[in-house]
Amino acid sequence: MQSNSWVPLFPEQASTFAWQVDYLYFYLILVSVAFSIPIVVAIFFFFVKYREKEKFSTPDEIHGSIMLETVWSIIPFVVSMTIFIGGAYIFYNQTRVPADSMEIYVVGKQWMWKFQHGTGQREINELHVPVGRKVKLTMTTEDVLHDVYIPAFRTKADVVPGRYTTLWFEATKPGKYHLYCAEYCGLNHSGMGGWVYVMEQSDFDDWLAGGGSNQTPVEAGRELFMNKLGCASCHAGGASQRGAKLEGLYGTDVKLTNGQVVKADDEYIRNSILNPSGQVVEGYQPIMPTFKGQVTEEQLVSLVAYVKSLNPDAATSPTTTTTAPVTTSNTNSSSTSANTKTASNPNAPSNKTEPTKSSNK
Ligand code: CUA
Repeated sequence: MQSNSWVPLFPEQASTFAWQVDYLYFYLILVSVAFSIPIVVAIFFFFVKYREKEKFSTPDEIHGSIMLETVWSIIPFVVSMTIFIGGAYIFYNQTRVPADSMEIYVVGKQWMWKFQHGTGQREINELHVPVGRKVKLTMTTEDVLHDVYIPAFRTKADVVPGRYTTLWFEATKPGKYHLYCAEYCGLNHSGMGGWVYVMEQSDFDDWLAGGGSNQTPVEAGRELFMNKLGCASCHAGGASQRGAKLEGLYGTDVKLTNGQVVKADDEYIRNSILNPSGQVVEGYQPIMPTFKGQVTEEQLVSLVAYVKSLNPDAATSPTTTTTAPVTTSNTNSSSTSANTKTASNPNAPSNKTEPTKSSNK
């Protein structure tokens, strides 16, 4: 079904850094082989050459050799530094998420992966992404530690309870690729996985357009903020504003009452909702109640997306490039499974029925 990479038994190379990881891996194998074989050969050679020929003979003493010591210092130095440089290059590449990435939210739970696109589409155990676009996954979990692993992209990252982790990739060829959980997380760990569908941008746009009227994370967050959780009663502007100002907050430095300065990133906003007294902004009273236990991880993700949207400078790039931004109408879509899509062929989006385009474009 899938064509292999240039190495037999290896998964396909389907992301921009797949070949880098493979080259580093083969370099490590090469180094291992290049040391192992001469050492084993030398062992046998010396067995024979220096075997005991006469009883109680004393060998000649050797008092150092600058040449020899220089060689056996420089060679390992060069080898270990090339491994370090190669590894550091790949590490920086994979951990520093490009600013123009398209963001997808991921919530893991025993035993499934839940995805939500910036335009609102939700998926379970399937992830549709366009080819040649940088994709950023912002990830957390409802229960225990999991780990997103996409072998064809040569990338993986832990998904940790109580915080956000990120992972990014740029897929290089359309196709269907395995998605695994790579951290033992209980009974059905081995079954916690699915597929990543990499599609041409036009197919991806069709697929997105077929989503109907899902709430985007920003819209869901706004609804929670304005109505369900009542955040607006303190945080909305005007005379009754008692909570910190959120407009233009995201990505800026915030000064706390204890003098500390922190960056208002995803993690900070999440912590402010769950543990508000831990980071009180200078000039405000610690009157905000905690929302721990009252909001799900998916709702938190939506709230973070909403607060992020209040600072247009920090907003991430739109999800689609070739079509108008799919802004969808507000319908009640708190159910996860109801809006979940399935598609078995990346080139034939399954939800082509009645592409309900945006209601207010
Ligand atoms: Cu989730 Cu293993």
